[in-house]
Amino acid sequence: MSRIVIVSNRTPAKGPAAGGLAVALKKVLAERQGFWFGWSGKLTESPSPTAQIQDVDGLSVAQIDLTRDDHQAYYSGFANSILWPSFHLRLDLTTIESHWYEGYRRVNAQFAAALAKLLRPDDIIWVHDYHLIPLATELRQLGVRNRIGFYLHIPFPTPDALYAIPHHTDLMRDLSHYDLVGMQAKRDVAAFLEFAEHQAPPTFASSAKHHVDFSRTEILAFPIGSDPDAFASLSVSPAAQKMITRMRRSLGDERLILGVDRLDYSKGLPQRVEAYEKFLAHNASFRRGVHFLQVAPPSRDTIKEYQATSETLDAVCGRVMGKFAEPDWQPLTYVKRAYGQPSLAGLYRLARVGLITPLRDGMNLVAHEYIGSQNPEDPGVLILSRFAGAAEIFPAALQVNPFDTDESAEAIRVALEMGLEERRARYEALMAAARKHNVGDWAEEFLSHLARKPGDSAPQHDHIYLNSVA
Ligand code: F6P
Repeated sequence: MSRIVIVSNRTPAKGPAAGGLAVALKKVLAERQGFWFGWSGKLTESPSPTAQIQDVDGLSVAQIDLTRDDHQAYYSGFANSILWPSFHLRLDLTTIESHWYEGYRRVNAQFAAALAKLLRPDDIIWVHDYHLIPLATELRQLGVRNRIGFYLHIPFPTPDALYAIPHHTDLMRDLSHYDLVGMQAKRDVAAFLEFAEHQAPPTFASSAKHHVDFSRTEILAFPIGSDPDAFASLSVSPAAQKMITRMRRSLGDERLILGVDRLDYSKGLPQRVEAYEKFLAHNASFRRGVHFLQVAPPSRDTIKEYQATSETLDAVCGRVMGKFAEPDWQPLTYVKRAYGQPSLAGLYRLARVGLITPLRDGMNLVAHEYIGSQNPEDPGVLILSRFAGAAEIFPAALQVNPFDTDESAEAIRVALEMGLEERRARYEALMAAARKHNVGDWAEEFLSHLARKPGDSAPQHDHIYLNSVA
């Protein structure tokens, strides 16, 4: 059996895995040999030409160091100040510094050079996310002929947003050097196909002759999931119960409305708090009977747009407190800190409403985790943004337009008033969908497609959206 090589910017650390994705990929590696390759997290004076290999809880992890300047250009610059905002359709938040692109390519070339030395001819290589779009090109230039797949964890942009990215045609050509490109949702494949069919309009710096040929690349949607049954068990574990007891003590009879997100502008946090503010304003009878908890661990906080989002959120939360708080009742708590999965599972289980309203999101695994953690006898209600990839697989959620804070406010009221029968029916449909899209099957299905030799028939899975230019 071929070895599997997982490549991503960050690699798993020692100790309990932080997320379902890391657990699922670790399982794949344990079953098929292989290793994980990525950045060590260290910034050094000179880049490392060779990876250091270490054992991380039984997993072989190969890592390279990056220089501070390269990391700044590649990660904070091109990946997170250009690609991230553009792919999330926030062109207003992009900052373009042209030299970042060279840093982005340099780091990808450095990844490829160190990785190529470790490869065997039949290894299957699986590259993850927007930091590493050029990796296949760099590996092919070094003579690597292995099957290489790419999975994009974030949404794919509409053509207009793509055209706003410097060097977008080169990036699309980079994607054409993969054998398989996996996306989260049908909408992402559709956006990709729109580009593939029409290609970029010529500009003064490029012309239509730079047409990208995607005929050798398969583009499919493989919606990622979590492990909902693991969350079901975790939510009744002693650690989760400890969190539930602690929260019950502070909430009394108040019902909990919960949001859990990295502190990122794509998550729509100020809009969410504003929706809650409107809910309190329009529904005075609910005041003192509810509490909104937003968990928002800081993320990428050296980037100014993230600092600005954090400040906006401080201001909006302060405004809601000022308007509605009383000496013996606070309408909300806002926690800028990360919690472990057992504590989160406890919070999810306790929350009568899961308020998950990103402005745009690849999938949103919090939605999957919230569903998995519910008490089947007395489940909570998921309010979900229709712009999360998860909306395609969870039609039984209360779906909202997160930009329309009146609509989200009304959804909070509907969720709190929903009877047990409807909550159970929705939960059952959601849990069935979460199980169908579990992360273990997701990894196996992506790899079974990738391992296919040209000419083999495609493995059939009814929840992989087949829509391809190949
Ligand atoms: O959503 C994309 C993603 O890369 C996730 O895979 C990851 O958990 C998250 O962003 C965190 O990003 P960073 O590595 O920048 O902290």
